[in-house]
Amino acid sequence: MRKAIIAGNWKMNKTPAEAVALVNELKPLVKDAICDVVVCVPAVNFYAVKEAIAGSNIKLGAENVHWAASGAYTGELSADMLVAAGVEYVIIGHSERRQYFGETDQTVNQRVLAAVKAGLKVILCVGEMKDVREAGATDGLVDYQTIMALNGLTAEEVSEVIIAYEPVWAIGTGLTATDEQANETIGVIRKAVARKYGQEVADKVRIQYGGSMNPKNVKGLMAQPEIDGGLIGGASLKAPDFSLVVNYDK
Ligand code: PGA
Repeated sequence: MRKAIIAGNWKMNKTPAEAVALVNELKPLVKDAICDVVVCVPAVNFYAVKEAIAGSNIKLGAENVHWAASGAYTGELSADMLVAAGVEYVIIGHSERRQYFGETDQTVNQRVLAAVKAGLKVILCVGEMKDVREAGATDGLVDYQTIMALNGLTAEEVSEVIIAYEPVWAIGTGLTATDEQANETIGVIRKAVARKYGQEVADKVRIQYGGSMNPKNVKGLMAQPEIDGGLIGGASLKAPDFSLVVNYDK
């Protein structure tokens, strides 16, 4: 049995004061969650959120990480810096990074290797654009993205990685993949992991769905056998909505 994991991706939202208000409202609402609860926040909020979540079941995540240990990379943050700031999880390869910031499968892979080496728990994002789905090339693409991103990790390391399947056409659009579409494509990702790292590893890897997941559609998605959680954008910015997603079983 894989433990479900629901993670918020705040993207470029919330000042430190707003962040503290949000997690303080969230804490009592999610304290009895049966799943892992994570908030991935802008780096400027790490310190305040870390303090606010102390002693609660909410874990701190980042939204990106650089692959180098240090150096001349203006504006970037290393994995060791994140660890030192109390970060436990990190999103890597989000489609917005791939679309707007030139992220490639190769740089995603470098970031994954650096994060794992530093002891961070990786939330690796994969997913197809609308034209790819319409062309019938989704399965090949998510297989490729998954294999390339994990390349160089040991099987044991792969078993600890969390993968988020996020169809790009469903992010922030209000369009969700159907329960069956999400389940099927996540099954394809799990098969890719099994082919390269063995069935035992594939059975351990937690794979989330992401893309307009919300209090209304979470139950149906979470009832699917392959779906082990969610990566939540818009609905993670309001405590009542995010808590309803986290408490999908209640
Ligand atoms: P959304 O974002 O829930 O707003 O669609 C999900 C994501 O980008 O991780």
